[in-house]
Amino acid sequence: MLEVRSLRKEFGDFVAVDDVTFSLPEQGSLAIVGESGSGKTTTARMIAGLETPSGGTVAVAGAERGPGRPRPRARRARGRRIQMVFQDPYSSLDRHQRVGDAVAEAVALHQDLPAAGRRARVAELLDLVGLDERQARSLPKALSGGQRQRVAIARALAAQPRVLILDEAIAALDVSIQAQILALLARIRADTGTALLFITHDLGAVRHISDDVLVMRAGRVVEHGPVGSVLDAPEDPYTRRLIDSIPKPGWKPRRRGEKAA
Ligand SMILES: Nc1ncnc2c1ncn2[C@@H]1O[C@H](COP(=O)(O)OP(=O)(O)OP(=O)(O)O)[C@@H](O)[C@H]1O
Ligand SMILES: [Mg+2]
Repeated sequence: MLEVRSLRKEFGDFVAVDDVTFSLPEQGSLAIVGESGSGKTTTARMIAGLETPSGGTVAVAGAERGPGRPRPRARRARGRRIQMVFQDPYSSLDRHQRVGDAVAEAVALHQDLPAAGRRARVAELLDLVGLDERQARSLPKALSGGQRQRVAIARALAAQPRVLILDEAIAALDVSIQAQILALLARIRADTGTALLFITHDLGAVRHISDDVLVMRAGRVVEHGPVGSVLDAPEDPYTRRLIDSIPKPGWKPRRRGEKAA
């Protein structure tokens, strides 16, 4: 579904992303973790076509693109295949537009449907993300952070993306809402085959939602593998420090070769 090869981004002399390579199968789920400034968002923005790579290639569902500005048509096509949800859903919503209309607008943008079909699709999306009729008639300010994030996810799903990127998208929400949204994402993945690229500082969430994890440091990949092996028995000292720096009740990482406690 997504094939990223030797991706690189320079900002002047500074190399923000250096030789990042990974792939994501249909229905796959990959988490990218790493300290602040390690290049996670820049990588995601290049994949989504919001930032031009300095080098390397991104292929989405077989269509490849390298450095250079994409043509508008290619950009729109990619927009349909990849959608990105950001940390702050408030900034992406029009505060004067009812959220049901915001979802309808996204549907109209991506699918050519008659009015009745569009209404049905909007209802389906609102239902999928767990928003009811009353909430659909509300303005963004009348919703909670978790509800707004659901609106952002519904709008992203309106494009029927093959890859959904969430960049710290649930970091600001409280734990019970986070759990609900993680469950929602798992359901979407199972129902639609959409692959998830999940950027987070929350290693608990990574265990919950991702098959694989990629650890970035200073723009480079330091470790990449199945969640269980990377988080339980990290090979790289940086990964071990990253795991140690996050308090987790109930378990601690062990070194490879060490017996489980
Ligand atoms: N437009 C830009 N111009 C110059 N430098 C940039 C630009 N965007 C990002 N950077 C730099 O690239 C590096 C990687 O930034 P990025 O936002 O990808 O990190 P991140 O891993 O997402 O961090 P965080 O966890 O804090 O979100 C940082 O040092 C940042 O300052
Ligand atoms: Mg970031």
